[in-house]
Amino acid sequence: MIGQALNRVDGPAKVTGRATYAYEHWEAGQPLYGFIVGATIGKGRITRIDTENAERTPGVHLVMTYLNAPEQGPRDESVSFEYWRAQPVLTGPDIHYHGEPVALVVAATLEQARAAADLVEVEYTVGRGRFDFAEQEDEVYIPKVVNAGLPTDTSVGDFDAGFDSAEIRIDEYYTTPYEFSMPMEPHACLVEPRGEDLVVYVSCQIVDAAQTSIASTLQIDPERVQIVAPFVGGGFGSKLGIHSETILAALAARALRQPVKVALTRQQIFQLIGMRPISNQRVRLGAGRDGRLTAIAHDVTMHTNPDVEYAEQTAATTRSLYAAPHRLTSHRLAPLDLPRGTDVRAPGEAPGMLAVESAMDELAYSLGLDPVELRIRNEPTVDPEREVPYSDRHLVECLREGARRFGWEERPATPASVRDGRWLVGYGMSAAIRGHFQGPTAVRVRLEADGTAVVQTDMTDIGTGTYTVLTQVAADGLGLPPDRVRIELGRSDLPTSWGSGGSWGAANSCTAVHRACMALREKLLVAAGGDTRSPLHGLDAADAVFSDGNVGVGGASEALSEIVTRNHPAGLEAEGGTRFMGDDPNYTNYSINTYGAHFAEVGVDADTAEIRLRRMLGVFSVGTVLNAKTTRSQLIGGMIWGAGAALEEEAVVDARSGAFVNRDFAQYLVPVHADIPDVDAVVLDGFDDKANVLGAKGVGELGICGAGASVANAVFNATGVRVRDFPITIEKVL
Ligand code: MOS
Repeated sequence: MIGQALNRVDGPAKVTGRATYAYEHWEAGQPLYGFIVGATIGKGRITRIDTENAERTPGVHLVMTYLNAPEQGPRDESVSFEYWRAQPVLTGPDIHYHGEPVALVVAATLEQARAAADLVEVEYTVGRGRFDFAEQEDEVYIPKVVNAGLPTDTSVGDFDAGFDSAEIRIDEYYTTPYEFSMPMEPHACLVEPRGEDLVVYVSCQIVDAAQTSIASTLQIDPERVQIVAPFVGGGFGSKLGIHSETILAALAARALRQPVKVALTRQQIFQLIGMRPISNQRVRLGAGRDGRLTAIAHDVTMHTNPDVEYAEQTAATTRSLYAAPHRLTSHRLAPLDLPRGTDVRAPGEAPGMLAVESAMDELAYSLGLDPVELRIRNEPTVDPEREVPYSDRHLVECLREGARRFGWEERPATPASVRDGRWLVGYGMSAAIRGHFQGPTAVRVRLEADGTAVVQTDMTDIGTGTYTVLTQVAADGLGLPPDRVRIELGRSDLPTSWGSGGSWGAANSCTAVHRACMALREKLLVAAGGDTRSPLHGLDAADAVFSDGNVGVGGASEALSEIVTRNHPAGLEAEGGTRFMGDDPNYTNYSINTYGAHFAEVGVDADTAEIRLRRMLGVFSVGTVLNAKTTRSQLIGGMIWGAGAALEEEAVVDARSGAFVNRDFAQYLVPVHADIPDVDAVVLDGFDDKANVLGAKGVGELGICGAGASVANAVFNATGVRVRDFPITIEKVL
């Protein structure tokens, strides 16, 4: 079962509209609708707020501002992870970023709420905001920690000496823009009060974080907050934590003692969720004429909101990618009065590899060396900074297999030398690496008397295929057909997981399911072996085989349903889990990563510089593949995201107001079907025995890592123009 391209088990529910998203839980009763009023300044203070006209509007039940909002718990920095901290809203008259909520209007219909929102009158004194990254770059400070708990700076050997004495030197700056996670389902929440308790239907990636965060904001016992999130329409990091719509819905529902729901508009998502920080990255590579790196430095400056510090792990992958004796990485923050930086798919790794893998291409051209060969020559034998072995590193195989399948030998060796009609044609490539994370996850598997298995965990399926891969692992573990497995996800009354994020969700929850199934097997064998009515009574179960709903020992066999019916008529349960990587010696003793190689072909119009992706191939090594179809979907989705980062995506701040000016999909460009021709992802067979018992590692974010650089390097190969300021738009190439 494991690895098969099983169709999504939740597919029929989704395409027939029976999959229920946060805004759609009509069983909660007739809800009221909340609409958020956002600040129209980027920095300053509310001097007057008048809600009278809004309150007089038909249908309006409540207008909440900082003047009447209940007191809430503060963000508590002693809580290790941001997403578990309180997220208070409407706390005072100060405005910290453009669009910040200043009021919530609750009415009987969405239209009434929205119309009344326009009638809330707010006056401000406008402060001097810091909105321009370029102007603040000298004001940088060192973050306390880099995302995922990584060190801010690393240093190995003597970088300056190594770099200064290198025969070939690359020293360039690369810039990447603000980017947003834009899930198809907007951030939305429906809160139903039940006595003193709250049932919170919320679109989130981590149920445990949502429960803790809401409870600490409302200053109530987490037990009184029940989270329900069976379906989530995409997250990409933006739903790791909960946001103002959720807190506002909860505050209003408590105040009114009625269900209240609040969803963000697409424009509000560009204001209230946070974004990938803007970055300026200096990459220095020193190498000998043989192409061997002697020195690597990756120094990153990015924006942060001053109140909610966030540093992407932009230079983190540089620490493990290539061998070189002298090394340096650093992360610095420039405070801006903009929304907080936050995790956006492949946080740090995506912009970081865009820069470093562009620089590697520049080095290859300086040396006159094939970029694939350059990477192979710098393959390390151990993790060069942590000085521990790699668990299951197959980067070179990915590079070679990708080059072969793509036809890399056809690459124009000289930039701007190949034309196809009006198109200049170029090839580019990039390596990919991403760390694999493990977190605490618990799963319960129950075998019912009718022989079906129920898998329960608060893990979410954010569209990635959790329901499907868990079905496969449980079916495999218990020897059941997949249609005898039922998965229950996304509720706080189920065993606690680390949720979906960081590409850890599938590996964590599948490992936990596998372990629960193994424990359940033991219990079944004990029950059957000790039961005189069982054909397995007294047999040595060491070679028991579970298949097709039966367990066989030697020539004897019995249906699981019969064992359960006779011995545990109420059902038989077992739990399985994974632990935090910091407590798992494998994650200390090995450098556990996933790998890949990207290849891209572009055409660039010789006159207009219009850039067209012509084809793209990624070859990856991720350990065990849990489902060939969902894995491929994750990887090509990531590659397309990378292509968008190289060529299109960019949120632009108006440096006068601090507002993002392109707050919709008409102006914030992401790839559409016409932008993406032939994209394929191939996964090498593998098994990482250090990662977990299934040998499986994360997939979701690997596809992005390096993907954009392969496109950027193809643009250089096509045109001879090197653009270091992403995205590569026409005017930068002309
Ligand atoms: Mo991911 S950016 O950790 O959801």
